[in-house]
Amino acid sequence: MLPNLQAYRGSLLHFLADPAFSSDAHVYHADGLLIVADGKVQAAGNYASLHATLPAGTPVHDYRGKLLMPGFIDTHVHYPQTDMIASPADGLLPWLETYTFPTERQFEDPAHAGQVAEFFLDELLRCGTTTAMVYCTVHPQSVDAFFSASEQRGLRMVAGKVLMDRNCPEFLRDTAEGGARDTEALIQRWHKRGRALYAITPRFAPTSTDVQLHLAGELARAYPDTFIQTHVSENKAECAWVHELFPQARSYIDVYDSVGLLRPRSMYGHCIWLDETDRARMADSGAAAAICPTSNLFLGSGLFDFAAADRAGMALSLASDVGGGSSFSMLQTMNEAYKVARLKGSYLPALRMFYLATLGAARSMQLEGVIGNFATGAEADFIVLDPAATPLLARRNRAWQESGASLEELLFALALLGDDRAVAATYAAGQPVYQRAAH
Ligand code: GUN
Ligand code: ZN
Repeated sequence: MLPNLQAYRGSLLHFLADPAFSSDAHVYHADGLLIVADGKVQAAGNYASLHATLPAGTPVHDYRGKLLMPGFIDTHVHYPQTDMIASPADGLLPWLETYTFPTERQFEDPAHAGQVAEFFLDELLRCGTTTAMVYCTVHPQSVDAFFSASEQRGLRMVAGKVLMDRNCPEFLRDTAEGGARDTEALIQRWHKRGRALYAITPRFAPTSTDVQLHLAGELARAYPDTFIQTHVSENKAECAWVHELFPQARSYIDVYDSVGLLRPRSMYGHCIWLDETDRARMADSGAAAAICPTSNLFLGSGLFDFAAADRAGMALSLASDVGGGSSFSMLQTMNEAYKVARLKGSYLPALRMFYLATLGAARSMQLEGVIGNFATGAEADFIVLDPAATPLLARRNRAWQESGASLEELLFALALLGDDRAVAATYAAGQPVYQRAAH
């Protein structure tokens, strides 16, 4: 059978390397063409040179005046916290007690979980996020509900059941053995089924006993291509609590390291209060950081140190951390990342931020070649950004529209002024999964 061929014309941007460490990291074609065959990238390049290669009759979708780029990847987000986004509290620990735990309790009900999962995924797609690393709740049915909804939409998603067997309300508590058994069953049910990938998910060190963390480490060894996700060094009060609970550990991250939870495909949320030894250990082990600026500012947790992370050579990515984060939009996440970097004396160019939200995340997840850029054979998850999405964006980006002025300035304006409104369309594996209403 002939492949299903589709082509998309517009300004085209993707990355081959990290702009912080390479001078020709990005590929940009002002008049570009993306060719998709059976849901995979067949070619991405200049319209002038590529359109002649298309068989007669191939549909060419005209997105001229807009920017085609890989879908965003959000490497740390809690789908059960969708309904409690923007809940006020004076810091992480009271916020968990007051809002998070009661909200997560509702996911015992599979119908509730299914309905929230659907809304959550549609919201991600509206924001141009095509892949996320997602925390479910302690209930295995919350994972089934999530992966069922993402399978229906054909999305590449990573998710897992939260493990927590202490320091949380009784109604959200598993046991070390029960949690491990449920996790193994979920790995067998979902990991690599279609586009689903499983993440072993101890919530954070304070809510797991030593035994639970050890069992999570054993699962991570038994299933080396699964993911691991957890929180580390987010908040000073949390760090002090970890120090009390694990007095033998050299540091917070050492609690995880000592049980084998630092390895490629492990994703650590926040990473604010690390020291140099922690950062070096993360870089050596292949563990990655999910940087969550909207959450860190909202909860007053602290400022991520980009310069220190780069000196250590850590793998970096950006994340919303909804509902601690205050926006689903990776553009708004970049907006706050930029300001966090400024407050720490660093400078984050827009190109770097767009890299971190696409190929940087894919690399952090060991998924380069699968998602994150337009390499031949990669899954065709892509978005169409509208530089004139709002009256203000249209005005600010006039120079780009009229004369092709600086790409860096265009991306910067999109990051600072854009949000879900800037996403004109989202495609997953070559299928349209979101189309902004005409306005
Ligand atoms: N630490 C432990 N659980 C959570 C959570 O749900 N959100 C955030 N931001 N930090 C956490
Ligand atoms: Zn989180």
